[in-house]
This record gives sequence, C-alpha cells and structure tokens, in this order.
Amino acid sequence: MKVALVQFEPVFGDRDRNVGRLIRLCRQNPADLYVLPELAYTGYQFVSAEETRSLADDLESPRIDAFRAAAKDMDAAIVFGFPELSGASVYNASLAVLPDGRSYLYRKTHLFYKENLYFSPGDTGFFVFEFRGARVGLAICFDWFFPESFRTLALKGADIVAHCSNLVLPYCQRADFAAAVQNRIFIATANRVGSEQREDETLTFTGESVLVSPRGEYLLYGPEDGETVLVAEIDPEEARDKSVNRYNDVLAMRRTDMYSL
Ligand code: ACM
Repeated sequence: MKVALVQFEPVFGDRDRNVGRLIRLCRQNPADLYVLPELAYTGYQFVSAEETRSLADDLESPRIDAFRAAAKDMDAAIVFGFPELSGASVYNASLAVLPDGRSYLYRKTHLFYKENLYFSPGDTGFFVFEFRGARVGLAICFDWFFPESFRTLALKGADIVAHCSNLVLPYCQRADFAAAVQNRIFIATANRVGSEQREDETLTFTGESVLVSPRGEYLLYGPEDGETVLVAEIDPEEARDKSVNRYNDVLAMRRTDMYSL
C-alpha cells in the first residue's frame, strides 16, 4: 500500500481554493491512502465561535463531495481534517472517504488550547476500518499527547494511524517513534506548514510530516517549511507481529491487573 503525507499551507478561510489545491496535490502524486492535515482547508486559528461555525461544513457540503468524488476518481482513500457542523455543535473532525463510497468520521477526542473554546469535545471514540488489506485508525493532532489514543487504536487492531495534524509544539515527530514502537503500528502524521496571525497571536506550524514504521524507522520525513507530498510503500502486515522477542508480545503481555488508574 502506498501512503502519501500531504504537507500543506491553507489560506485562512479560503475553503474552495484550498480544497482545489489539496486535491490537485493528491492527483499529482499517485498513492492508495492520502493523509492530509487537521482543519486542512479552513486554516486553524479561529477567533470566535461564530467564525468557527461560519467556516464549518456538514457532511452534505460540496467541499466534502469534492473529496468523495476525488477518492472515487483516483481510486484511493483520502483522510482530511475539517470543522464539522452537526446541529448546534462544531467538531474538530477528520473524515476518511473511500473510492467505494464508504466514509468514516472521527471527532477529535483531546482538544488543544483555544480549540476548547470553539469546538465540542469529540464523541465518536477511536475505531478502525479496513481498506485494501490495511486496518486504518484515525486520530487528530493533540490526541498523540495521550498514549491511550494510539494504544486504544492498536488494541482495536489498527495497522496504521492516519494522524491529521496542525502541530505547534516541537515534540510529536519524535514522540511518534515511541508510540509506533510501543504499539508496533505505522503512524502517518501529516502536518501543516506556515504561520497564522489572527488578532494578537501568531502560531507557527512545525511541518516535518512523518511516516514511522512499527520498528521505529522513519520511512518519510518532510521538511520544516514548504508544501510537499511524500509517498512511501508499506506492508500493513508488518504491524500484525507484536512480538519484541519470543517471550514478549507488546499487547498480549499487558498487565491490566496492575493498571488500576
Ligand atoms: C493541535 O492539536 N492542533 C496541536
């Protein structure tokens, strides 16, 4: 399976143009599974609940349809982050759209910083779906900070986590090494680049999108700056062997009787 990380810099609020550019980048770089950043086509730094709501999309939106159509046309799966409008709530969500018409919605479990002001906490929980022989799990950015996120996905059978990100802290790209090795899974962190200045605050995103193997190899490592699409071939089966040696299996030997918190 070919995995693509789409490192991207959206123009804040320019949703249609950003969607067009993202789909064009995917089309130019053939792969089976594309992972795009968190809030991939809106930008990140909302300054009010009204603004967040005004840029959010429900699942019937023409922008979501554009990704669905691209997935079908390219015969590939696309996972992208977006602000999801659902009734009175707005979620920081990611959607996996598959060429056969299936789609899977994940709502971010662990909201970061001012996201807590503008988004509802996710309520979908962690889950896994099958695509082209791989079991794919979804997580969004700050979810990485909580080891339970990737561990839960591994326990549910994920081979690879599509991790849509807008990282501003300097840790995740290195922390992915530990999470991939501890859970024996592939982690695909697609990060954005550039800075956003909104009102009195500037946030700079760290780039360096990474794909890490169950053995801790960095199969892809993007630049700090600049839009790019990085593609690598993986064998999802590599994530099915959880043994460190013949006596240690990282999932089977968990001492849940000792973990009481
Ligand atoms: C983040 O969760 N966007 C850092």
